[in-house]
Amino acid sequence: MAKFVAGLEDVIALESSICLVDGTHGKLYYRGYSIEELAAHSTFEETAYLLWFGELPTSFQLKDVEDSLLDNREFPGEVLDIIRDFPPTATPMEVLRTVVSALSSFDRNACYFSREADLCKTMRLTAQIPVAVAAHHRIRSGLPVMTPRAELGHAANFLYMLQGIEPDAVSARAFDVALVLHADHELNASTFAARVSAGTLADMYSSITSAIGTLAGPLHGGANQQVMQMLEEIGDMARVEEYVDRTLKEKKRVMGFGHRVYDTTDPRAEVLRQLSQEVGASKGDLRWFEISEKIRETVWRKKQLYPNVDFYSASLYHVLGIPHDLFTPVFAISRIAGWTAHVLEQYANNRLIRPRAEYVGPRNRQYVPIDDRGEYPVLPELRDQESPQEGTQTQ
Ligand code: SDX
Repeated sequence: MAKFVAGLEDVIALESSICLVDGTHGKLYYRGYSIEELAAHSTFEETAYLLWFGELPTSFQLKDVEDSLLDNREFPGEVLDIIRDFPPTATPMEVLRTVVSALSSFDRNACYFSREADLCKTMRLTAQIPVAVAAHHRIRSGLPVMTPRAELGHAANFLYMLQGIEPDAVSARAFDVALVLHADHELNASTFAARVSAGTLADMYSSITSAIGTLAGPLHGGANQQVMQMLEEIGDMARVEEYVDRTLKEKKRVMGFGHRVYDTTDPRAEVLRQLSQEVGASKGDLRWFEISEKIRETVWRKKQLYPNVDFYSASLYHVLGIPHDLFTPVFAISRIAGWTAHVLEQYANNRLIRPRAEYVGPRNRQYVPIDDRGEYPVLPELRDQESPQEGTQTQ
């Protein structure tokens, strides 16, 4: 039996041909193509096709995917009603997790198991997740839900549905590249969660619901929103040094830095840095980019840590006008392409994923009748917890 490794660090859990993360050299490849080339030349639709089918599409195949996404943007009215019924305090990730589950009940393919049925579910989820995220924001803001526009691409259409106006070309292209960059990343926690679910032959919707719940954690997809909270808390270049010193002194994490796999810079961060500067300049708002640069220099000087994908995406999404609590749902809007590609790969050559645990608990204990157990105090965790203080950072 293999020995225990905390967090499965560097453990090879399965074989995959979808994504290569070269943590030593800071390189990332989707199906053999470098992320830098895809960011420079591809679109989210083309990259999603590559992840799903293993090859770059011909112009006909790309048109098929674009048309399929277009057709699948039609959103079930019953699920829109579910979104309307959420309390105003519901977080966008809670809503997204619930909506993906609900969408399953309105997909006639949901319980069919075949590659064709699973590809249909893949298209529906990829098309409908952005619709759901935008619709929830419009509803909670008391604004009309926008109908997707056939002539807009996937990225531009989300910004249109969210903001009610067509994005300018610079913003649309920057957001499209951000979706390319976030589309897959080998066996990150949420993708692994999806594959563990798919490994039991649970359906696509159940597997993606597992992934969404996992992405929400602040050590994973939730980090980009926490980066923006950090930027706003710092608020000024002059306060960067003090914030970083205090965070490190308190043994807390500076959000957006470090990575389990990359020993050097996350290649996505470099592209997102350029996009944040470009869009910030085009909007005349470089404040958050400049504070980010000062944080990056300070964290390097004090801890030799590199920024990861979540660091510059925060300032980019802010200048694109995306509400801060939608940053993690935006991660899901992109990562649905990778999640579904991995679920399809798991189904194609499945083996139940079931690791072992090293038992370290007590052994050989004899049963004690309750009357002989004395009066232990009620366990504290069984009492109602006070709601956590606002802004409490969890490690
Ligand atoms: C994503 O897996 C993926 O591929 C994920 C992702 C994807 O595309 O799916 O890339 C997306 O989740 C990116 C990561 C987003 N999370 C954050 O930005 C949160 C902040 N980062 C850290 O929590 C941390 O870096 C992790 C969780 C990302 C990685 O943690 P590890 O591998 O478990 O490393 P660790 O916590 O054991 O830290 C190792 C050392 C420690 O120093 P020592 O205590 O040994 O002296 O590095 C330090 C840590 O203190 N460290 C940090 C730090 N990250 C690591 N110190 C301060 N701030 C940080 N951010």
